[in-house]
Amino acid sequence: MGPPPVTAVIPAAGSGSRMASAVPKQFMELNGHPLLDWTLAAISHAAEITSIILVAPPDDVARMTEKYVGNPRWPKVSRVAAGGATRANSVYNGVRAAGTEWILAHDAARPFVTPTLVRRTIEAALRHGAATAALPVYDTLKMRDGDFLGQPLDRAAALLIQTPQVFRAADIITAHERLKNEGKEWTDETSLLQQAGIKVAWVPGEIANMKITMPDDFRLAQVIAERSPFVKGPARI
Ligand code: CTP
Ligand code: MG
Repeated sequence: MGPPPVTAVIPAAGSGSRMASAVPKQFMELNGHPLLDWTLAAISHAAEITSIILVAPPDDVARMTEKYVGNPRWPKVSRVAAGGATRANSVYNGVRAAGTEWILAHDAARPFVTPTLVRRTIEAALRHGAATAALPVYDTLKMRDGDFLGQPLDRAAALLIQTPQVFRAADIITAHERLKNEGKEWTDETSLLQQAGIKVAWVPGEIANMKITMPDDFRLAQVIAERSPFVKGPARI
């Protein structure tokens, strides 16, 4: 049996409040291309990804559908779903719109994801049921006590969680609906899966797979983008 189809769900429906830019950060230009296009190009080039669902701010769904769906430049983008009030709701809406057993969720705000990282995360999820990219912590790690340092923490016991995150659509839908009814909240799909009692494996992420959150992140991303070829041409499917 060949590898199963995997739908990529790309949440791009945030407002970028911490970036505080004129346009939401996913539409800011990085070396001449919208940040979102960098992300979509990298995900498109991963052979394991068979289709892409973009999750957009509700007011942008029509414009984004026009731009990406049915465009030979973006053959894998099959549909644009409307985002929700939180990232969790946006991913949920994207997962509901997908038609495959397996989903890869990846933040639009991480433009330097690589096809290698996509493959590594999918392989771990197929083996273990769910997986995420994550980075070990190399800096000294402490609790914060206001303007002072609190207790030291064991950095060897810590991980920084990135995306891609790969899981079964049914697991996210069931867990989302159950935990929502219990009034629970979560910041990413691994937290949701863990709260539902599902084990999540991790694979080494990449330092360049940073999330663009603050203006300084964007300045660093500009430096990386200037040195990286923008992936051109339609992805092979
Ligand atoms: N996202 C989304 N729907 C939301 C909130 C966030 O699809 N309601 C997306 C963002 O567009 C981004 C990813 O989830 O690609 C990660 O979220 P984050 O970095 O927090 O982006 P924003 O929520 O836009 O930024 P901020 O939290 O600073 O407002
Ligand atoms: Mg946010």
